[in-house]
Order: sequence, then C-alpha cells, then structure tokens
Amino acid sequence: MGSEPLLSIRHLEIQLAAARGEKVAVDGVSLDVAAGEVLGLVGESGAGKSLIGSAICGIMRHPARIGGGSIHLEGLRIDNLPEKRMRALRGRRIGTIFQDPLTSLNPLLTVGQQLEETIRSHVPVTRREARERALSLLDEVGIPRPRERIDQYPHQFSGGMRQRVVIALALCADPALIIADEPTTALDVSLQAQIILLLRRLVRERGMSMIIITHDIGVVAELADRVAVLYAGRLAEVGAVTDVLSRASHPYTRGLLRCVPMIGVDVEALEQIPGAMPSPGATPAGCAFHPRCLRRSAQCDAEPPPMRHLSGFEVACWDPHLEPAPAEVGA
Ligand SMILES: Nc1ncnc2c1ncn2[C@@H]1O[C@H](COP(=O)(O)OP(=O)(O)O)[C@@H](O)[C@H]1O
Ligand SMILES: [Mg+2]
Repeated sequence: MGSEPLLSIRHLEIQLAAARGEKVAVDGVSLDVAAGEVLGLVGESGAGKSLIGSAICGIMRHPARIGGGSIHLEGLRIDNLPEKRMRALRGRRIGTIFQDPLTSLNPLLTVGQQLEETIRSHVPVTRREARERALSLLDEVGIPRPRERIDQYPHQFSGGMRQRVVIALALCADPALIIADEPTTALDVSLQAQIILLLRRLVRERGMSMIIITHDIGVVAELADRVAVLYAGRLAEVGAVTDVLSRASHPYTRGLLRCVPMIGVDVEALEQIPGAMPSPGATPAGCAFHPRCLRRSAQCDAEPPPMRHLSGFEVACWDPHLEPAPAEVGA
C-alpha cells in the first residue's frame, strides 16, 4: 500500500447520450494523485474538466455516463459503487467545492445547521460536539467571530465568506481528497487570491490531496504541485507545475502560456491560438489539436499521439517542443 497513489484514474471514458448515438466527451484519461498532492486540471472551457470531477465524486447524471476505465480511491474501486455507498464515501473521503457557493448551501438553513448536520451524518458525535466542531471549522476557514456568525443564514454572508463556508462544509468529515471545481471563478480578483491562499494553507496543514479544476493557469501556478492539461477530453500534457510552466512541451500548453502574465490568466477563450476546441462528437481524426497546431505533420492528422514519457513529463504529441519555452513564459 505504501506508495500506492491516493487516487488512481485509468483510461477513463465519459460518454454523452445524444440524439444519434453517444458522443465521447472524455477519452482515455489516466491520472494519479498522491497523498498530500495538489493536481491542477486545466484547459479551455468545454474540455471535459468538470465531467472528470463529477466522475470522481460519483455525481454523474444523464446524459453523461462513465463508459469505461476505472477510478480507485485509497485502493477501493469507486466508479461502480452503488449510489448509497458512493454518497457516504463522497462526504467522508472526498470533499467538494464548486464555483457557485449558492448551489452547495441551503438558503433555508443556518450555516451552523448545515455544518452540524453534515458533521453528524459522517461522524458519530453528539449535537454539542458537532457544534463545537462547526465553530472550529468556521474559525479554520477564516470566518471572523464564528460564534456570532454560526446562527446566520447564507444570504447574510458576502460572496467570499460564503465560499469559505462551502470550504468548511467540504472539510466536515476530514476528507482525504478535495475536488475544487473553479472555486474562485465567481469571485472578484482580490477575493480569488484570498481563497487560493486559504486552500493552499488547508492542504498543507491537513495533509489533504486536492484536484483543482480551473481554466485559469494562474490559479494552477499558485496552488498545484502537478498539472494535467486537458484538450477536447484528452490529456495533452502532465508534469510538475514548475516544469510545465517553464518548458511546456505540448504546442497547446505553449499556446495557453503564450500571453500569460502568470496571475489571473483566463484561457476561457484562447485567442492566441486560432480556431476553437472541438465539441464532443466533433473531434477530428488524429491529434485533436492538429487543426490549430502550427507544428502539425501528416502523422498528426492521421494518428492520435500516445502519451509518452519525456524527461519528467508525459506528453501526447508527435513533435513536442524539446527546447525551453521562451524567456517571458514563467518569468
Ligand atoms: N449534462 C450535459 N449535457 C450535455 N453536454 C454536456 C453535459 N455536461 C457536459 N457536457 C459537454 O461536455 C463537454 C465537457 O464539459 P465540461 O466537463 O463541463 O467542460 P469544462 O468543465 O472543461 O468546461 C462540453 O462540450 C459540454 O458541453
Ligand atoms: Mg467546468
């Protein structure tokens, strides 16, 4: 067990039911997350990041379904668990943080009621202990005067404070893994930085693992140890953040980084690379990126590149950049 990764995804496929058959939205994704590691999952909007996050949490809904592959958490296969077991596991071992705090919070219950209920559904504690735990969680996520705030309703909190409450909810059962899907996207820039700092501190102090899902390379640079770049449902490149930011080898990653002033970089629409990412079902033959790639050759149009190991990276490209990225990148 010792060196076994906390989370192990193998050849994951996610299908979308459509009028005519099914479309492949995630195609053969394999990823490991070690204990205590933060993995950034980055790519343009529509790449399949959130689908992968929902597959891990077991909250995939029609028309999406897992079509193949496996997901193991702490050695246990979790992609085919019955709904009830998955629901228990989801709160206990996996905490989730989503973009919009309002989807995670019940407007009709006080923050304290929600925290205490969640704590008691996962851990055998008395009402009193649950309340003490809730207070200490609010304190841990940086909510001032928790004893005054605990009996307030979500609408009485500002956007940034609400996201802190959502983070406290995700921590209720002391999970081993946090899935944070665009946790800062709905916040303005100064609040974004605060939430990033908070997540970084929590991961360090608690020794948790986290998958940070984002279209913002700046968030990855601030938070992640490793980064996986997703394009049209396939992994383009996986490597240590420092390596990928300084010497990205996939032309798509280079495109993402090209105009990047490191913080707050938005790759929602990637204007630096002409063309658009294909939607599921419209993926071109060969490398999915080839129509937009300046380095393409005949092989790229014909055959999808396999994931290859390349001095510290994994890259799916027939002709990866081997030279360091231009000096301004990562500077
Ligand atoms: N419930 C759904 N119904 C139809 N299409 C979906 C659904 N969920 C995701 N998709 C499609 O799958 C692709 C990947 O979606 P998603 O994982 O949300 O992307 P990302 O999080 O990277 O922006 C997109 O083209 C999206 O439109
Ligand atoms: Mg998403």
